Amino acid sequence: MSVERFFRKELLEMPAYHLAEHDGVKLNQNEAPWDLPVPLKALGVEALLKTPWNRYPLGDTLLLKKKLAKHLGIWADNLVIANGSNVLIQALVMATSIDRNILTFDPTFSVYELEANLFNNTVVRVPLNEEDFSIPEDLTLRAIKKFKPSLIFIANPNAPTGNLFDISLLKKIIAIAPGLVVIDEAYYPFSGTTMIDSVREYENLVVLRTFSKAFALGGLRLGYVVCETDVARNLEKCLLPFCVSKIIASLAMVVLDHAEYINQYVKTICSERERVYEGLKHISSIKVYPSQANFILFQVENSEKVFKSLLKEKVIIRQVSNGRSLTNALRVSIGTPEENDAFLSSLTKVLA
Ligand SMILES: Cc1ncc(COP(=O)(O)O)c(C=O)c1O
Repeated sequence: MSVERFFRKELLEMPAYHLAEHDGVKLNQNEAPWDLPVPLKALGVEALLKTPWNRYPLGDTLLLKKKLAKHLGIWADNLVIANGSNVLIQALVMATSIDRNILTFDPTFSVYELEANLFNNTVVRVPLNEEDFSIPEDLTLRAIKKFKPSLIFIANPNAPTGNLFDISLLKKIIAIAPGLVVIDEAYYPFSGTTMIDSVREYENLVVLRTFSKAFALGGLRLGYVVCETDVARNLEKCLLPFCVSKIIASLAMVVLDHAEYINQYVKTICSERERVYEGLKHISSIKVYPSQANFILFQVENSEKVFKSLLKEKVIIRQVSNGRSLTNALRVSIGTPEENDAFLSSLTKVLA
């Protein structure tokens, strides 16, 4: 008899998350293409050496929370930190929605739907407008009234499309939503648009952020939400105790003390984004979409073929077709200037 009988139906139906290692030009996970400078890493390790490793991380995470709150200009009570924003997405679902309706858009970040399904929720997918991936106002407001979702996920900028949504429409959505609305600002530093200040105005607004992209700390695992204090207190109950280790806390605190390093990095990525966008625009068989994030979405005639041909050139990007709202779609992360050149010339070659 199969071991499947041990598991919940929702889990068996869930696809496993799998990404292979790649030793070429890696532009498939929207990571920072540069590692932190070694002297900065060394400061983090020194700080870690000074903490007792036999003790649970109590004071360490409190200090990190205080430092992060100061960095953001908010109170620590409005902050929840965890080992990655994916963990917070799961906590938000667990905290609000089992056997309920969760509303999200199509296309968007796949983890929202995976986690919603895992807890037996019904996913209400509102299709984004085809021409520019904006939110269809009437359809969305009607869907919220009809399905009364206990949770709404909105990535802003959206992934994998890269566009920003209209803030006044987001505010309308938050105002009529009966449950929490998560504005996922994973790519915020590349867009400069945030709703953190609106948390004071809307008690159901939850802003989600990560250190994995602009902070170049994907390997450490750190994410956070900014929300109303009682929302934070309840959400925290859904996180396992001590999920932020001393390692993350010590290193991230040093990084926050030197947060200016991200400014130059973000500036370079944004100017490279425009260069790659122009490069793609000049290839006639490609349809490319403008982006406010550190990646670009484009469509080709045969995405499977282009993806595989690029792999042979040792360039890995991401296939993002979903059989519904996106066909023959590929997403490329913005890398170093050299990586972007390698991508553009390999793409030109494989399309010739
Ligand atoms: C929109 C969005 N939200 C959240 C995440 C997850 O980030 P983390 O590394 O903090 O789990 C990603 C990662 O790709 C993302 O694209």
